[in-house]
Amino acid sequence: MSGTTQKTVTITLDGTNRKLTVPLMHGTAGADVFDIRKLYGELGVFTYDPGYGATASCESKITYIDGDVGILQYRGYPIEQLADHSNFLEVCYLLLNGELPNAVQAAEFNKGVMHHTMLHEQIRSFYNGFRRDAHPMAVMCGVVGALSAFYHDSLDINDPESRRISAFRLVAKLPTIAAWAYKYTIGQPFMYPRNDLTYAENFLYMFHGVPTEEYKVNPVLSKAMDLIMILHADHEQNASTSTVRLAGSTGANPFACIAAGIASLWGPAHGGANEAVLKMLADIGHVDNIPDFLSEVKDKNNHAKLMGFGHRVYKNYDPRAKIIQQACHDVLHELGIEGDPLLDLAMALEKIALTDPYFVDRKLYPNVDFYSGIILKAMGFPTSMFTALFALSRTVGWITQWQELIEDPEQRIGRPRQIYTGPAERDYVPVDKRA
Ligand code: SDX
Repeated sequence: MSGTTQKTVTITLDGTNRKLTVPLMHGTAGADVFDIRKLYGELGVFTYDPGYGATASCESKITYIDGDVGILQYRGYPIEQLADHSNFLEVCYLLLNGELPNAVQAAEFNKGVMHHTMLHEQIRSFYNGFRRDAHPMAVMCGVVGALSAFYHDSLDINDPESRRISAFRLVAKLPTIAAWAYKYTIGQPFMYPRNDLTYAENFLYMFHGVPTEEYKVNPVLSKAMDLIMILHADHEQNASTSTVRLAGSTGANPFACIAAGIASLWGPAHGGANEAVLKMLADIGHVDNIPDFLSEVKDKNNHAKLMGFGHRVYKNYDPRAKIIQQACHDVLHELGIEGDPLLDLAMALEKIALTDPYFVDRKLYPNVDFYSGIILKAMGFPTSMFTALFALSRTVGWITQWQELIEDPEQRIGRPRQIYTGPAERDYVPVDKRA
């Protein structure tokens, strides 16, 4: 059970023992945390934690990860069970509301989302401002941020109804925005959403469909799409979620906060890794080249990374990677793509890396991005769209975390401190007196 106990901590500074009473917070699961808010007042020192690897930025009830064991739970439900039995809109309801919906709640929620999938007609012309070869993530950043200019009726972050409608709008419209970002780059007409389809079917329809012929949704692809969205829905305080929370802590509107999250996710160290994995596999080219590539990765003078491997929290197999790897096999088999060379190369690379002391010693295992690119490519998505698909899936997690932040009575504007190691105070020197 969660709670807080007061702990007496003795710190010896320059030979002097200082006894401090520090609150120790206990969660439902995972590591306890010291509440260090009074440390500066008591000792005149800050803590130093670049990248916040050992710092809890908030108290959250949404998602729990045990990186040592490879556990991921949304509101207490193991990701494996949700992957097997749930669907993405049900997971959205679970994340946003904290409980699985009953049949009536699910029907009402699904209807609410599917009736907000259209974009304001003026947003169509917004796309025309981009070059046709713009990266879809650049378009997503711009268009999602622009939603702030269209929905003045739901920008009051302190109004629960405004927060609820903003969450509906963002979850509902991101697939349309992402599909249109792709259609724009290939010069095809935008496909309007269809409310008679499921969330995943509708996305595939808007992405692959054309006005000139009927589009039949392949159930194998829609099931795989729904699974991929479930697996990417939320993941504690990762870089993009922390970006959304930091933006939200200033009182910025939800659309601007989600646009900031999309920008942060784009980086190759984060959500851009799935695109980078495909490029890495293409560069390696053949199983015979794997040893040379891994030698480059281990060479400190080289900046090559084994993309799709490693994680700040998982020091064991990312449970999402296991689920996606199996889905890869299922989708390729059901699509009749036997022996995808990319999948074969990825599995050979994984097998070799998992026995190599360099990666074993550093607890580097495949993460969600290692296989997601392979299944997305097999499903007919261009590499440039991979991170956009991650963004549309993660939007529900971002907006849930944003809601939790706004409703948290302890939330304050995020403002980290620093240790200053620049020049000591000095006087201005007129230009004619300088060397
Ligand atoms: C996601 O945070 C989340 O939850 C993110 C995410 C989510 O759902 O939101 O899970 C999604 O972003 C997954 C990660 C996708 N990124 C990649 O696959 C890019 C490749 N991975 C690395 O860039 C790296 O592993 C990170 C960024 C993911 C984690 O970086 P850390 O925690 O800062 O790890 P580190 O740099 O401290 O690594 C420790 C050691 C270092 O070597 P030494 O200095 O000790 O000799 O491991 C090495 C690193 O150089 N290392 C790697 C490596 N990852 C870490 N070496 C080669 N290849 C890698 N991929």
